[in-house]
Amino acid sequence: LCACEIFLSTFDLLSLILSPSADIISTVEFNHTGELLATGDKGGRVVIFQREQETKKQPHQQGEYNVYSTFQSHEPEFDYLKSLEIEEKINKIRWLPQQNAAHFLLSTNDKTIKLWKVSERDKRPEGYNLKDEEGRLKDLSTVTVLQVPVLKPMDLMVEVTPRRIFANAHTYHINSISVNSDCETYMSADDLRINLWHLGITDRSFNIVDIKPVDMEELTEVITAAEFHPHHCNLLVYSSSKGTLRLCDMRAAALCDKHAKLFEEPEDPSGRFFFSEITSSVSDVKFSHSGRYMMTRDYLTVKVWDLNMETKPIETYQVHDYLRSKLCSLYENDCIFDKFECAWNGSDSVIMTGAYNNFFRMFDRNTKRDVTLEASRENSKPRAILKPRKVCTGGKRRKDEISVDSLDFNKKILHTAWHPTENIIAVAATNNLYIFQDKVNSEMH
Ligand SMILES: *[C@@H]1O[C@H](CO)[C@@H](O)[C@H](O)[C@H]1NC(C)=O
Ligand SMILES: *[C@@H]1O[C@H](CO)[C@@H](O)[C@H](O)[C@H]1NC(C)=O
Repeated sequence: LCACEIFLSTFDLLSLILSPSADIISTVEFNHTGELLATGDKGGRVVIFQREQETKKQPHQQGEYNVYSTFQSHEPEFDYLKSLEIEEKINKIRWLPQQNAAHFLLSTNDKTIKLWKVSERDKRPEGYNLKDEEGRLKDLSTVTVLQVPVLKPMDLMVEVTPRRIFANAHTYHINSISVNSDCETYMSADDLRINLWHLGITDRSFNIVDIKPVDMEELTEVITAAEFHPHHCNLLVYSSSKGTLRLCDMRAAALCDKHAKLFEEPEDPSGRFFFSEITSSVSDVKFSHSGRYMMTRDYLTVKVWDLNMETKPIETYQVHDYLRSKLCSLYENDCIFDKFECAWNGSDSVIMTGAYNNFFRMFDRNTKRDVTLEASRENSKPRAILKPRKVCTGGKRRKDEISVDSLDFNKKILHTAWHPTENIIAVAATNNLYIFQDKVNSEMH
């Protein structure tokens, strides 16, 4: 067995958490060291999990993630001008790099982005001169001596406070937010436009990309995802429903309508099929940690692109090719429009993305090995290694295999995240959050 083979099939369950709100999880995001994990859900709530530290009593028990804080980030709203309901569902969460004791994160629904401060308090001031412990003003005639208030220890409290609200800048639905490596600005992208914000200024943003045609009848393409380069603050990429990627350089022009590079695979006429236009739409784009590559997910594949090669992806991985024969029914039940995300591991050597039937896939870029794993309550017992799953297409089904016809398309894994430095992954399966850890590789650390 080569190390990769061990790697790809030794994930076991670290924590299984039923979303405290029992609502569908709509986004998952580790902070930059992986100690915190935030999820957003359909009900507008954000739940933050913290990794337990190793204790003397239970060495090697480090790793479990437990709830650290829960708060309501967005509420349902009504746009009276357009007679439209604005859902509270959290589309994306992004952590800001930590600069002091507090943590900051951005969360967004379709229209409004909010900046939250998450801080800890374990002391409270006591002994004020003019007010009592409940904060009521004292009868001044009883105040005879001047005292110095003191800080008294109390139970640890996690406080979450809204710091800024960035509203009214998007006509269409926000699909992405991305914090710039300059740590001062961030962008938000909707179907047709990308705006650049300063984190400290809420009343204006700069429109840096606008693909809205003068005549909406001529609309042929929408923006599906966008991200800043991890190291170069002037570079950003956005993907489109036509399967293309556009790299923009803000140094070249303030308005990035004219891309610096267009990444597009030449169409292979023999590979065209009735649903090609829908299945080639990019649902997610992610820069590698190194900044050298970009990964895109479309309905059937994951592709890796080299920033230096625009003509075609350098790698293409089939996620669930067996669905080709099922596209008609996947169109009828709208599944074909599902937006699957994708994630890199910390060293950019493995990629992960979700599929149906609560399956998720991993591809090792070096060895070209791949594996299908399943997030399920029955099959994941703590400390038991996940068994690779196989889907069989036609012919005789072997024991252990599952046939394409019995896949459950209501169980889908759209959102996953990989710990930035360790082999720990978070997988959202409707209202369950699974956190798996690669035993073998983490013990070697
Ligand atoms: C992530 O969270 C942990 C736990 O609070 C903290 O120690 C760490 O500094 C955070 N990392 C960053 C880069 O924000
Ligand atoms: C990425 O995956 C490889 C397996 O090919 C593993 O050896 C490595 O530790 C992983 N890197 C991180 C940081 O998770």
